[in-house]
Amino acid sequence: MKFFIDTANLEELKKAKKLGLLDGVTTNPSLIAKESIQKNQIYEHYISICNIINKGDVSAEIISTNYKDMIEEGKKIASLNPKIVIKIPITKDGLQAIQYFYKKKIKTNCTLIFSSTQAILAAKSGSTYVSPFIGRLDDIKYNGLNLIKEIKLIFDNYHFNTKILAASIRNSLHIIECSKIGIYAITTPLKILCSLLYHPLTNLGLDIFLKDYKKKFN
Ligand code: G3P
Repeated sequence: MKFFIDTANLEELKKAKKLGLLDGVTTNPSLIAKESIQKNQIYEHYISICNIINKGDVSAEIISTNYKDMIEEGKKIASLNPKIVIKIPITKDGLQAIQYFYKKKIKTNCTLIFSSTQAILAAKSGSTYVSPFIGRLDDIKYNGLNLIKEIKLIFDNYHFNTKILAASIRNSLHIIECSKIGIYAITTPLKILCSLLYHPLTNLGLDIFLKDYKKKFN
């Protein structure tokens, strides 16, 4: 399973790279807005993100909402770096834009997926990735993981090439369940990725080992 980091923060990306756990990056307009940059520095910022990662895809989301502007904006974003994947919301115009970029062999990530029907439409339109949001469904008392299971089953049934990139990951259980389902990739904040490493019994066990060793040999 690939680990993408859901951030636009360059320092966090450098940390993830140091850990050797950076397979790709996803951003969204809210994440971009958190960074200390001006509007005219956004494209430059995407290039900096691409330069940090050695390999892997970087999803950069368009903010246009009508087809014509989506195409124009998407082309500009895609030309910044070969690692860029155009992130496009699942709307009528968004689907048409995905179909346009598919014909041009430009990668897309269809975002804000909250139902299997939306995922099917994105896959049929040729989206490289679909991003179902687990946490935001959980927030409104739906089971986000059930959506992931359903999309995986449907995509397998029809051998869709579209990859499932599970988004809005809120805890380690989401990641374990996604790996059991066989999801291609998850995208998560760095904090959650780092939390996968820790177990209290590991810390306790290490303390005991070192204490026992020192007692005998020091
Ligand atoms: O990038 C999209 C997604 O991962 C957002 O997550 O936590 O804002 O629901 P969240």
